[in-house]
Amino acid sequence: MSKQITKVAVLTSGGDSPGMNAAIRAVVRTGIYYGMEMFGIMRGYNGMLEDDIFPMNSRSVANIIQRGGTILKTARSKEFFTYEGRQKAVANLEKRGINGVVVIGGDGSFTGALKLSTEFNIPCIGLPGTIDKDLYGTDFTIGFDTAVNTAVEAIDKIRDTADAHDRLFIVEVMGRHAGYIALHSGISTGAENILIPEAETNIEEVIASLSEKEKRKKLVNLIVVAEGDEFGGANQIAKIVKERLPHLDTRVSILGHIQRGGSPSAMDRLIASRMGYHAIESLMEGRHNVMVGVLNNEIAYTPLEIAIREKQSISSDWLRIVKILAS
Ligand code: F6P
Repeated sequence: MSKQITKVAVLTSGGDSPGMNAAIRAVVRTGIYYGMEMFGIMRGYNGMLEDDIFPMNSRSVANIIQRGGTILKTARSKEFFTYEGRQKAVANLEKRGINGVVVIGGDGSFTGALKLSTEFNIPCIGLPGTIDKDLYGTDFTIGFDTAVNTAVEAIDKIRDTADAHDRLFIVEVMGRHAGYIALHSGISTGAENILIPEAETNIEEVIASLSEKEKRKKLVNLIVVAEGDEFGGANQIAKIVKERLPHLDTRVSILGHIQRGGSPSAMDRLIASRMGYHAIESLMEGRHNVMVGVLNNEIAYTPLEIAIREKQSISSDWLRIVKILAS
């Protein structure tokens, strides 16, 4: 029988993502429903170290479900990654009797949670909060859907001006080492080429397809490239294209941090609410040190170390779809 969880703290860490507020709201309100005392930790593990921890009630999370960013703020803490730093942080939890922590973030944040649980026996639950969708054990991460929709809206606008000038646009999207934002936004905007780290980029094929489309007088040409692609992003691809096809009127657009902001989509609010609820349920059921994910529309629990270590793969089906639809 696991120890009863009575006091739970929630934090957001790493890059923010739209829907983190909806997740905080769900965690806090579910905990309160079950009679727990709830706490918020500011600026991720930094707040844990600096004792920036405060009690939260139902009202603390009112009117936030629709807001981007995170009311708890976020950070990437260096000090927490030293043992002494973690000791200091844990002392701040212990003096309040906090015996459960929900961490909303990506793989770096889960690494911190894993250390808390293995070194100090503090039950932790991870919620996948990242626009990159680079965590194993879930079909969705909180913020991914909004980021893709933001990218799609931006690329549609770029298409208008590309069309007006008969230009080639190379659009770079975020994703760190993962190509999901590029894949989803590229397919949704009808990009001719989608370059992602999960598939080897054959630059000769890209050049050949551009030349062939030019012969067919295909008017709009869009390449969507993930920032983590092995060629190093849109500027590098543009340099090669300009050398090889100098007569093409080529432009680069790097979408950047707009992909991280904005009001979360309904989909992100839904998964954040569902995952937040299950974070508390898991703590109560003694299912600790797992990430709450969604697989095939069912809640799935993955041990934190596996969620961090294993890589999601992109099915070859998707890559085939890209090729066929862009012809
Ligand atoms: O992990 C989210 C993310 O937005 C990545 O897509 C990107 O590579 C990185 O964070 C950017 O980090 P920063 O906001 O620190 O520049």
